[in-house]
Amino acid sequence: MSDIFDKCATDQGYFGRFRAAKDRFFTLPVIDDLPGPHMNFQGQDNIMWSVNNYIGLAHDADIKAAAMEATEKWSVCSPMGSRMMSGSTSEHLALEKSLADYAQKEDSFLFNFGYMGVVGTVTALTGPDDTLIVDKLAHACIVDAAFSAKGGNGGKTTVRFFRHNDMADLESVLKSVNKDRKGGVMILTEGVYGMTGDLANLKGITALARQYDARVFIDDAHGIGVIGDKGRGTADHQGVQKEIDIYFGTFAKSFASIGGYSATSTQVRDWIAYNARTQVFAKALPMPYVKSLQVALQKVMDGDHLRARMWERSNQLKDGLRDLGYHIGTGDSPICAVFTPVGDNLEDVAMGMLSYLRKNNIFCTGVVWPVIPPGLVMFRMIPTAAHSEEDVARTVEVFKNMRDDLKIQFPLGDSELGKINRIYRD
Ligand SMILES: Cc1ncc(COP(=O)(O)O)c(C=O)c1O
Repeated sequence: MSDIFDKCATDQGYFGRFRAAKDRFFTLPVIDDLPGPHMNFQGQDNIMWSVNNYIGLAHDADIKAAAMEATEKWSVCSPMGSRMMSGSTSEHLALEKSLADYAQKEDSFLFNFGYMGVVGTVTALTGPDDTLIVDKLAHACIVDAAFSAKGGNGGKTTVRFFRHNDMADLESVLKSVNKDRKGGVMILTEGVYGMTGDLANLKGITALARQYDARVFIDDAHGIGVIGDKGRGTADHQGVQKEIDIYFGTFAKSFASIGGYSATSTQVRDWIAYNARTQVFAKALPMPYVKSLQVALQKVMDGDHLRARMWERSNQLKDGLRDLGYHIGTGDSPICAVFTPVGDNLEDVAMGMLSYLRKNNIFCTGVVWPVIPPGLVMFRMIPTAAHSEEDVARTVEVFKNMRDDLKIQFPLGDSELGKINRIYRD
């Protein structure tokens, strides 16, 4: 017999070694500043590449003023209760209408967090006879949504995976599911893959979905406000927005706020509103967010000049690092995924590089196995409209010094390139 808390005294679990060592440098770093291109970390001004403030709205004065005005009128508590009981307001409905128009769908439903929205939407719609087909690289909230889907009565929704963005594999899964199919089928994918920066092949996915009678759900957390006409996202960018059955966006990134929404037909939206347990049994989104999100949405729609600046910085960063020999991921989004080899001594070398960058006041996120194959480290960098040319130039300079001081070997060999290709294709 053991105590359920025994594990807490070990170095097991996610990042267990860091937790046991009470690390605050690599994990759970404390950063108190307003999100932006420069933030203070451990008493030093850092150039920040880890926040998803894509079009620079984090500092927007009009959004803040709308939130302050709403706080003045409704305080931070309103509305009290779940939407189902006492927490629905005409402001929530108006925001849902605006978001639906933006997504070119009939209606939409708000959630307090993107994560809760994905889990709530997917689990609300699935029953024990249904099947979810999930891209293997999809975000944790999509995977958790799929594995939480039970469909009631002790049943369990079937979950199948397809190789990342591989249409032949998706087709073969669809064929095999349809052989003895009883219920419905929905394909779950991200729009822009937030870690690697590549785009889902939504043309291919929606065409296969129509061919094999499946629905398509896309979580466009990193595409909304970032690509497409007026920032409408990845499906719009690829000309297939109409083919998407449920378009999901979060406000935690380009909107620089919090919450998310599912945009779809009125009938499906109403089903979600009545059946998504993550929102039915949770308090509604507070008024300062609901009101300020209307302003943020307008800024996102009018933000072509901001997106142009974000792209300039992204191209400048990608080109500068590529010229130094770093391998930049093939993604068509602004996200800059920088790969370097680390050999067998994975954690020490990867952490050496991350320390080097942080000690030189460049703050970015480092990713190693098991998120990517062993032998590589990936620095995931988010260029934003708020970064300056000087921020990029200084960052490239530090990466150059790191390459020289730590003697990073370029170009990458076939084995490393093969591993990187596997991330993008498998
Ligand atoms: C693809 C994707 N979906 C959903 C989420 C969760 O969104 P939120 O932070 O709004 O809960 C994230 C956040 O990391 C994400 O990257």
